[in-house]
Amino acid sequence: MSLESEIKKRRTFAIISHPDAGKTTLTEKLLLFGGAIHVAGAVKSNKIRKTATSDWMEIEKQRGISVATSVMGFEYRDYKINILDTPGHQDFAEDTFRTLTAVDSVIIVVDSAKGVETQTRKLMNVCRMRNTPIMVFVNKLDREGRDPFDLMDELESELGISVRPLSWPISKGETFKGVYNLYKENLQLYTPNKQIISQSVEIDVESPELDEKVGDKNAAQLREDMELIHGVYEDFDKELYLEGLLAPVFFGSALNNFGVKELLDCFVEIAPSPRPVQAIERTVVPNENNFSGFVFKIHANMDPNHRSCIAFVKICSGKFERNVNYKHIRHGKMMRFSSPTAFMAQKKETVDEAYAGDIIGLPDTGNFKIGDTLTGGEELHFKGLPSFSPEMFMYLENADPMKAKQLEKGVNQLMDEGVAQLFVNQYNNRKIIGTVGQLQFEVIQYRLLHEYNAQCRWEPISLYKACWIESDDMQELENFKKRKMQFMAKDKEGRDVFLADSNYVLQMAQNDFKSIKFHFTSEF
Ligand code: G4P
Repeated sequence: MSLESEIKKRRTFAIISHPDAGKTTLTEKLLLFGGAIHVAGAVKSNKIRKTATSDWMEIEKQRGISVATSVMGFEYRDYKINILDTPGHQDFAEDTFRTLTAVDSVIIVVDSAKGVETQTRKLMNVCRMRNTPIMVFVNKLDREGRDPFDLMDELESELGISVRPLSWPISKGETFKGVYNLYKENLQLYTPNKQIISQSVEIDVESPELDEKVGDKNAAQLREDMELIHGVYEDFDKELYLEGLLAPVFFGSALNNFGVKELLDCFVEIAPSPRPVQAIERTVVPNENNFSGFVFKIHANMDPNHRSCIAFVKICSGKFERNVNYKHIRHGKMMRFSSPTAFMAQKKETVDEAYAGDIIGLPDTGNFKIGDTLTGGEELHFKGLPSFSPEMFMYLENADPMKAKQLEKGVNQLMDEGVAQLFVNQYNNRKIIGTVGQLQFEVIQYRLLHEYNAQCRWEPISLYKACWIESDDMQELENFKKRKMQFMAKDKEGRDVFLADSNYVLQMAQNDFKSIKFHFTSEF
């Protein structure tokens, strides 16, 4: 098969949701359709990780198990599908943000009773930054949920994107009858069963057969709803979806295997194959002959006896081959990989080749950091792996002065892995660690001790946000840095960061220094 057709058939995406909306269940059902697993209940990773426990060791153990499920590849019809798993636990949200930089589209799962929840809103902001095409699956129709029109309005306003239903529910909860598929124009009747896949029936909405199948009242309601849908919503426009401006919406019940196949069928047909990726030097198109890719995730092995990492690389262009020399751009050296892994179903296996859109795992002993580029030789630096302002901050102190070197090394490596962010205060030279959740502080302390034989202590610091600053007016920038000397820090790339200790202080700074832009992400 030609490079172009290999790439064209790839669909690399992530499923995102607020915990409990049904991401794991949906993932599992998609894998069942792809024949990648044969029994329900096989996908467990998310399930455990989402538990709102502070027992991070337990969570890390599960993370260990889940290396193989980080990417789940399978074939469906003529397509090669790669689902990228995202951690359910919100303390690992930064991981999810980065994973979203490696996908070509996203499916959002929403609970029909709960609508759009906080975590979904946050993740959607990341998608919007990248114009990622979004599809929505409204789940749990077998339960009493909200009115579908209300849900559509909420999706539109909360996610800040236009929506277009491509299926529509007929009643809900106990009286749920099925969905009308507006994409294929047929009816799926609901049978509550986890094993059977519902059959679709070709029925015209106007035909009396509809009344027979779903009852007079439901049929009348569906006709009314259809009229409203066609009146309110423009016809589905695939181009707008691909530009990330319009989200098609499907309804169903993942647990009951209902509406999932319709979602998948439509998904493979309209979701994008790998998209061009922006490097600092130029735009890289997937079907270029030369290989290029970037590291978006590093997974450390928590077993102290096998202390290696896996660097996850998204292939942006061309074909990757085993045992071929590729250039590690940051180090400026050539590297060869004898055991790259691909992720098929829930197994990790060594591969000889992989194509743009695929994710490969490269065994690593500290050569990679997040954002690194690998190419066939060309100097390219992929953009688009921003750091986000952390939400929690602590001073990092050395608790064992004899082990300062170990601490330094450990902290640097953990930061390269993307466990948290390090800022160095320019005024007093103290190190500040920023995270999105309390768990990371425990993770860092534990790993420093067990992997680097170093001990750290946390000291509280009250900070509101880290802001990356820029301005065309260098004089004003200098004035600002002088005025805020005590709150200026450098991030690990040496960029200037203002550590605002409250929202009020930040607003004052924005008022007083009009020419300075304050960014909450490191890339703007
Ligand atoms: P998550 O990964 O997004 O966190 O959600 P997950 O799939 O684990 O689903 C959360 C709960 O919702 C699970 O129940 C799951 O069975 C249930 N669920 C998922 N889809 C549907 C659906 O279509 N209808 C209904 N009624 N429930 C659904 P649980 O009790 O937490 O776990 P379990 O004991 O069932 O595994």
